[in-house]
Amino acid sequence: MAIKYESVVPWGRSYHEYISMFNLEESDLDKSILGCGDGPAGFNAIMNKNGKKVISVDTIYQFTSSEIAKRIDKTFDIVINQTRNNLDKFVWSDFKDVDELGQARLSAMKEFLKDYEKGKIEDRYVFAELPGLPFNDKNFDLALSSHFLFLHTDNLSLDFHVQAIGEMLRVAKEVRIFPLLDVNLNESPYVEIITDIYRNKGYTVEKIKVEYEFQKGGNKMLVIK
Ligand SMILES: C[S@@+](CC[C@H](N)C(=O)[O-])C[C@H]1O[C@@H](n2cnc3c(N)ncnc32)[C@H](O)[C@@H]1O
Repeated sequence: MAIKYESVVPWGRSYHEYISMFNLEESDLDKSILGCGDGPAGFNAIMNKNGKKVISVDTIYQFTSSEIAKRIDKTFDIVINQTRNNLDKFVWSDFKDVDELGQARLSAMKEFLKDYEKGKIEDRYVFAELPGLPFNDKNFDLALSSHFLFLHTDNLSLDFHVQAIGEMLRVAKEVRIFPLLDVNLNESPYVEIITDIYRNKGYTVEKIKVEYEFQKGGNKMLVIK
């Protein structure tokens, strides 16, 4: 389904943030990885430079790099000002202030933009819309979701989460989702429900603490395998 260009607010985290959000170890980096809702994050670009294999899917990949770059220019100040108005929701240690955060996000998004057109030709950036994924069963070792599932509990239904996570588990042997909090810093009520659903199906489901914490209390990922 086409999304409205005017509603796109590109915002992307860096390779190093992905490493620490998902506890990615050297052995994980050698796996075939699917990033769900990677948007303009720098993870795929740097992994590719390092000779590793990541495919990212996102609805914004229906747009060209110059269209995405224009939306970044248009929306960057809005997102930064929202953060400035909610300073107490975040831990200011890895980023000392909002300006440093903004520079880090811009630099990750620039890495993405430099890589994007080439990555699209190489099928590393694939336009797809969860809960559907255009891949064969168990095509990947690991599927990641950063700041998409659980975070947007207000806008995405339980049914959407069940279908999207079911689809991620169809195409990958293991799923990791970070964070478990919604935008108001409450653990998403879907976390327990999803945990029960997949434990009942025989999966191992664990909340694992990670080094990364920017949203206050947002330092756990859900691992399903
Ligand atoms: C907040 S951004 C997070 C980007 C990146 N994962 C990160 O942590 O920096 C959420 C992303 O999810 C994407 N998205 C939203 N709905 C989607 C869907 N149904 N299928 C795939 N991607 C979606 C958005 O386009 C956006 O790029």
